Amino acid sequence: MQSLAANGPLESLEQWDDDVKSRYKEGRDETAFRDYTTAPPVVREFYRLNHTLQTRDFARAKKAEYGALNRSQMGIWEAMEYLNTLVDDSDPDTDLSQIEHNLQTAEAIRRDGHPRWMVLTGLIHDLGKVLCLYGEPQWAVVGDTFPVGCAWSDKIVFHQFFEGNPDKNIPEYQTPEGVYKLHGGLSQVDMSWGHDEYLYHVTRDYLPEPAQYMIRYHSFYPQHRENGYTHLMTAHDHEMFEWVKKFNPYDLYSKGHAKPDAVALRPYYEKLIAEYFPAKIRW
Ligand SMILES: [Fe+2]
Ligand SMILES: [Fe+2]
Repeated sequence: MQSLAANGPLESLEQWDDDVKSRYKEGRDETAFRDYTTAPPVVREFYRLNHTLQTRDFARAKKAEYGALNRSQMGIWEAMEYLNTLVDDSDPDTDLSQIEHNLQTAEAIRRDGHPRWMVLTGLIHDLGKVLCLYGEPQWAVVGDTFPVGCAWSDKIVFHQFFEGNPDKNIPEYQTPEGVYKLHGGLSQVDMSWGHDEYLYHVTRDYLPEPAQYMIRYHSFYPQHRENGYTHLMTAHDHEMFEWVKKFNPYDLYSKGHAKPDAVALRPYYEKLIAEYFPAKIRW
């Protein structure tokens, strides 16, 4: 068992999710969004580390390291159980385990009659958080993601912390398009490293394209909520982002309902997993 605190500064990974959720609470206006003073000091420190240390070189090195998929071989359910060995140091009575969050998201999508692959995407979308168990620090696992190698949109929360990022000193990275082509498409763009990008590489061969977008960009709030990077996107990206936007409320707001019964739900989900994935995949 590995404790989350070891990879600090957050007390739990949910603390970041909860912060995003409060940021996009229904009815919050622009002023409230800009007011970061309500964020707990550990969340602030989390963003300071994330924005300072997520350089283009870092993101590319991690993508090369983990994108090779030679870490292990696991089935999807097995990966869920593995992720569950992350011990949440925050109150264990009120917080859901990782499996429960995954099941809640999937069940909410299922209730609304969405395609089976989208239900499956809800189930697996956060499995990239196993990066924490590989020893990666929280700032390299969760957090709002953003393109690296081009100017940071002022729509990114705690934008001021980019002051400390060494990429600031590379003039080539400081134009809106940076090293990329205007409207050249997100496929050419390196994103900050985290659980989204990692799981995309693990699952891309098995899922339809909208599912790949949902997984890869679900934490890309600077675009799917704030439209800060439309200048890098193609018409096809925009089409696919309709799915990312459709997915987001299930990720943010499906928490807080009754605890799902993992034992009862397992047969349904094992069957669904087997429709798309072999018994073991490379991680
Ligand atoms: Fe996530
Ligand atoms: Fe999630």
